[in-house]
Amino acid sequence: MLERVIDNWWLARESASAVMGLWSWPWGRQGPSGFGSASTAEEVTAGVDATNLTAIVTGATNGIGKETARVLALRGANVIIPARTLESGQKVKESLADQVPSSKLHVMEMDLSSLSSVRNFAQSFNSSHKHLNILINNAGIMACPYQLSEDGIELQFATNHVGHFLLTSLLLDKMKSTARETGVQGRIINVSSVAHKRSDGTTHSLLIHIPNWPIFSMQMSCPGVFRKKDAI
Ligand SMILES: NC(=O)c1ccc[n+]([C@@H]2O[C@H](COP(=O)([O-])OP(=O)(O)OC[C@H]3O[C@@H](n4cnc5c(N)ncnc54)[C@H](OP(=O)(O)O)[C@@H]3O)[C@@H](O)[C@H]2O)c1
Repeated sequence: MLERVIDNWWLARESASAVMGLWSWPWGRQGPSGFGSASTAEEVTAGVDATNLTAIVTGATNGIGKETARVLALRGANVIIPARTLESGQKVKESLADQVPSSKLHVMEMDLSSLSSVRNFAQSFNSSHKHLNILINNAGIMACPYQLSEDGIELQFATNHVGHFLLTSLLLDKMKSTARETGVQGRIINVSSVAHKRSDGTTHSLLIHIPNWPIFSMQMSCPGVFRKKDAI
């Protein structure tokens, strides 16, 4: 009986928070940080000197990732843009360099849906860069037709979660040594979606062919598995 009351209370609390979240989103209501959905990246980073920081932003060839890379570059950070093709990365680099002439941008090749590509990127980054302070796991695809990655994993799950999980694991030692050597704490940011609220939290459904919104919702709840195991 008590269990059912607790379950119902939890469900009501979660539903209320989802409704409040969706309600506040279009109006840009501020959260505890003082920023809200209407805050821009420039506002959030105003006064920040990132000159000595190195950041990797996945999915920086478009959308949120591109703007994140632009503003990090504006604040002086050394920004790595992993792109599916060097050509697409180069185009973004040129367009960002036009907007921020002082930018320090580096394009490298990586396809997050491919485990071997992620491994190659990490190996190349770890051997060519001394420090990594910020990792922004932002790239994502959504509700695309069902297909498998070259490793036989559903493509959204492979790209949005598995690729980022492997990438983070392979860069973690570099981030820890950076923090030790510089005395500056690192940050890993996993971009998710409110769609995680629609997940039932199960993973077994990944093994079969089901419509892709549930897969997207489920994997958007996956950043939970990135929980603080190793403090940086
Ligand atoms: N926009 C929204 O309203 C919204 C809402 C909720 C959550 N999100 C989340 O926010 C993140 C960014 O969204 P967005 O709207 O900015 O996306 P977007 O404009 O569609 O850009 C997606 C980025 O991910 C990259 N990407 C896709 N597959 C990749 C792969 N296999 N390997 C490497 N990079 C890959 C794309 O590279 P290419 O240029 O090569 O395609 C592109 O740079 C996503 O995780 C998304 O789920 C967005």
